[in-house]
Amino acid sequence: MSYKDVKRGLPDRDTRVIAIINQKGGVGKSTTSVNLSAALGESNKKVLVIDFDPQGNSSSGYGIEKEGLENDIYDALLNNYPIEDLILPTCEPKVFVVPATIQLAGAEIELVSAMARESILKGIIDSVKDEFDYVFIDCPPSLGLLTINALVAADSLLIPIQCEFYALEGVTKLLESMKMVKGRLNPKLEVFGVLMTMYDSRTTLSKQVVEEVEGYFGKAVFKTVIPRSVKLSEAPSHGLPITMYSRTNKGSLAYIKLAKEVVRRG
Ligand SMILES: Nc1ncnc2c1ncn2[C@@H]1O[C@H](COP(=O)(O)OP(=O)(O)O)[C@@H](O)[C@H]1O
Ligand SMILES: [Mg+2]
Repeated sequence: MSYKDVKRGLPDRDTRVIAIINQKGGVGKSTTSVNLSAALGESNKKVLVIDFDPQGNSSSGYGIEKEGLENDIYDALLNNYPIEDLILPTCEPKVFVVPATIQLAGAEIELVSAMARESILKGIIDSVKDEFDYVFIDCPPSLGLLTINALVAADSLLIPIQCEFYALEGVTKLLESMKMVKGRLNPKLEVFGVLMTMYDSRTTLSKQVVEEVEGYFGKAVFKTVIPRSVKLSEAPSHGLPITMYSRTNKGSLAYIKLAKEVVRRG
């Protein structure tokens, strides 16, 4: 089934293009891209996940076998390949993925000499976004040209922060990049929300980190906190979102709750 066969209901508002971003690796960006999109899809929102990390964790998280792919987001970025032909269906009927493979790693350097190099992803997303309620961009763990493209293409940012020591380390740098892009190329860019991930209710550290991040970001921090859960780390090896792998798991329930909070934020 092609992504166009699932027609959106009457749109209640414009498409939201959200970059799931943090230049630190391992904070829960890809886990959030997969599981939040699945929870939104389940509640009848149509979502496009753009895997924008050469590691391709959002693609494999949805069970897409990268080895067998002839084309990926790299070809749209640098070879003018039509995005329509890259959009793949997933196990969640309203969720679609544009995959990434290791090929994308080359884009960071090749983009340097491209025309309007910061805005290529925006052009690609703008051509299909009206078909969707949400477009998520799963960003790579760096502040290079791929991430700049995500900052230009997005209208807002979802920043996952792991509940650990030095949680806010690097966040200032991310916000500086955001400010730079906002000032020059994307004046409407804003923070959509800050998500605390891998929360361990048994430790006081987790509580302290949440308080610290709330002190910094205020109301931008989602009320929903994602707990640490082994099932969440197992689900990708089955190519399934947590809602399908272990429905009643606490991590699954948290992403379902987060989806409601995301919809409420509009
Ligand atoms: N809430 C969680 N509980 C347990 N493991 C998690 C949780 N969120 C993410 N992980 C695991 O932590 C690792 C890093 O998460 P990932 O989403 O890939 O981070 P990023 O995309 O920011 O690099 C992965 O192995 C993932 O399965
Ligand atoms: Mg990732």
